[in-house]
Amino acid sequence: FPPERVRNFSIIAHIDHGKSTLADRLLELTGTISKDSVNKQVLDKLKVERERGITVKAQTASMIYNHKGEDYLLNLIDTPGHVDFSYEVSRSLAACQGTVLLVDSCQGIQAQTVANFFLAFGEDLNIIPVLNKIDLPGADPEKVSRQIETTFELDVSNVLAISAKTGLGVKDVLPRIIEQVDAPNADASAPFRGLLFDSWYDKFVGVVCLVAVRDGNLRKGDRIVSAHTRNSYEVTDLGIMFPNQVSTASLESGQVGYVVLGMKTTRDAHIGDTFYREGSPVEAFPGFEPAKSMVFAGMYPIDSVDYTKLQEALDRLTLNDASVSVAKESSVALGQGFRLGFLGTLHMDVFRERLEEEYDSTVINTAPTVPYIVKYTNGTEKIIRNPAQFPDMEEHAKVAAFLEPMVSGTLVFPSEYLGPLMDLCGAHRGEQQDYTFIDDNRVMMKYALPMSEILTDFYDQLKSRTSGYASFDYEEIGYEAADLVKVNILLNGKAVDALATIVHRSAADRVAKDWAKRLKGVMSRQLFEITIQAAVNNRVVCRESITAVRKDVTAKCYGGDITRRMKLLDKQKAGKKRLKTMAGGVQLPQEAFLTLMRGS
Ligand code: GTP
Repeated sequence: FPPERVRNFSIIAHIDHGKSTLADRLLELTGTISKDSVNKQVLDKLKVERERGITVKAQTASMIYNHKGEDYLLNLIDTPGHVDFSYEVSRSLAACQGTVLLVDSCQGIQAQTVANFFLAFGEDLNIIPVLNKIDLPGADPEKVSRQIETTFELDVSNVLAISAKTGLGVKDVLPRIIEQVDAPNADASAPFRGLLFDSWYDKFVGVVCLVAVRDGNLRKGDRIVSAHTRNSYEVTDLGIMFPNQVSTASLESGQVGYVVLGMKTTRDAHIGDTFYREGSPVEAFPGFEPAKSMVFAGMYPIDSVDYTKLQEALDRLTLNDASVSVAKESSVALGQGFRLGFLGTLHMDVFRERLEEEYDSTVINTAPTVPYIVKYTNGTEKIIRNPAQFPDMEEHAKVAAFLEPMVSGTLVFPSEYLGPLMDLCGAHRGEQQDYTFIDDNRVMMKYALPMSEILTDFYDQLKSRTSGYASFDYEEIGYEAADLVKVNILLNGKAVDALATIVHRSAADRVAKDWAKRLKGVMSRQLFEITIQAAVNNRVVCRESITAVRKDVTAKCYGGDITRRMKLLDKQKAGKKRLKTMAGGVQLPQEAFLTLMRGS
């Protein structure tokens, strides 16, 4: 296929607007998958993704389609479906020339529609609006067309209205793509230049990279170099995703396909990186950024003998998810564990779920924190990824400023929720930046918010205050100065490092009191009295206590038979397994960490 017969496109949509369903229909229509294929939603491969109904890892597929007597190679480049992955989305889009902006015609434009539109717009793509779900009684395609026209200034005079579910109108989508998306601007005679936009680990061949070949071509046996790492590799296999890997003799300019390089770990596959032929360096694609974690949390085995087992599970999982950073750490309270860095909180939740499945046990997940920066008076800086690294009171004299990461949040919602959402953003230290009506009764609001404020309950609150009618998306916008303090929890007078957290001074007392109360709520009485204190920068602000109890589970079956007694004792032992014993013998249940994670 020469470049003029190739189209590289993606589908961008808000969650649940039907991206995977439309992708399935297009693959069926072109015979790439069979109609009665049991493996529906081929693009959503991973189990967790299917369970949660979200696309975490993108899957790409090629199809061949005859349009006006000519065969075209159409490459559908899938994009991850969540805000935490906006960098990956932008790199997938950089591999395309056009995109289908799919909008549910009942729900209309949502926050992720807006965010994805601007990513595509920034990459200069041909954007084709498509209205989905017109089979539903609540569909209002005219209204949603007007939203698209006002918000994105796109031409909707001839907009496609389809039902990805019933197939209605879907046959018009591919012709529209062929006519409106530019062919890749590729130079077949120039030296090879390819964009790495996705990768995964395959246990038989190692890392598989998805590469958009811009210039030149690539064959088996070629040696190519990563512009970012300067590592060189031999191409041992390549081909197209049809929808599974189909080996081909070469990948030509303008095409998209998989490349196997004998790469050992996905950590060497940097999304957005440029490959060139050894000996003929080329200009790298713009927009490359090294992966950066924005949410950090400690993960510890409940029982310290399981440390190695946890490490092995982590090794296996991170082989396939290079966006998770892993560092060993130890905690006085929890022993040996790991500090993991994630792109965002959803990424963290998905990963923890996978980890527990892989490791076959629960892990203690400490409250998440964003990376803060401390600037010292002598001009040096330190990044804090764990509240334990927060400067102690003696060090405070040398601190010039604390900085926290900020995001620009986009909220889209029916106008009746304006008041509650302004209150919510205000309570999370947000500052309004913009406010527009998408139509008569839908509002789009932009707020600058500290990233730490959207880590915990912000999203849940947003949903509950609007009965689920508001949507939210965000992008990072750099660091700002903030008045930060550390909240410590003391159990029987001893600070528990794993329960410390960094908060803004204005919220410190409230968080301290709230955490102490919540801890009291989940901790059991023990044989001695337990005091729970919360301190803000060493100043104790509240105290709770749990009175002692003499617990004898066998007492109630006094005189009963011995097996029953043994059974109960075993049960008590099993229950204990989920408790972590702190210094001084205070036992902390795993739930304690979960409650605190939910924020205040
Ligand atoms: P993410 O992977 O989370 O981004 O979601 P998605 O955009 O891929 O949505 P998906 O294709 O999984 O569809 C979400 C739900 O909407 C599913 O239950 C689909 O069956 C349903 N759906 C998709 N298209 C249509 C449509 O045209 N009509 C109707 N009635 N339902 C649809």
